[in-house]
Amino acid sequence: MREGKLKVGVLVSGSGSNLQALIDACAVPGHPAEIVLVISNRPGVRALDRAKTASIPAVVFDHKNYPDRASFDADMQKALDAADVEFICLAGFMRLLTTEFVEHWGGRMINIHPSLLPSFKGLNVQQRAIDAGARFSGCTVHFVTPEMDVGPIIQQAVVPIHQDDTGDTLAARILVQEHRIYPASLRWVAEGRVRVEGERVFLNDAVYPDTGLLNPSPEQAN
Ligand code: GRF
Repeated sequence: MREGKLKVGVLVSGSGSNLQALIDACAVPGHPAEIVLVISNRPGVRALDRAKTASIPAVVFDHKNYPDRASFDADMQKALDAADVEFICLAGFMRLLTTEFVEHWGGRMINIHPSLLPSFKGLNVQQRAIDAGARFSGCTVHFVTPEMDVGPIIQQAVVPIHQDDTGDTLAARILVQEHRIYPASLRWVAEGRVRVEGERVFLNDAVYPDTGLLNPSPEQAN
């Protein structure tokens, strides 16, 4: 077991509801992680208010002020180093990172994505899942690798897609589950229970539900 709490930096671009879930989780006495820095690439976003309310240092690096991704990532790196950040959570961070940055943080950076990866990488994934006729969608916590939305999966949650869903209603249903699994995954990482082997993640003392989901319910067919 490591000494002290895992020092976490959270990168955001928007509302920060996942940041809030992580803040709330880390506030539980004895939690093995603490958020020491929040970085936003957009000024004025709600995530920054959430950091302020929680008395967590927050900085803005407005990507519009940078000529390229490398200089933007370099400034983020300096701030992360200055805060002694050991581990990064991407929480709705809407910028592509350079391969150099991602490799520097290899095995030490995770992301939450609102689909069941490896299906529906990229943007607008809730509407795309509906349009594809999928019966289920969900969310995925995974380690970040240079290729976007690819990387060893720590945890997923599944939600049904209803026939009257819009992208927004499905996004809201998925978000509820994001707020459950992202803090859980961070806790497991901070507890040192997560091991990556190739493309797969293994969790010490994991409990696996052995049930199946059906959608729509088959009961009416009886
Ligand atoms: C979430 O749906 C997350 O999965 C995706 O961006 C959204 C961010 O929401 N990467 P919030 O800023 O955490 O509220």
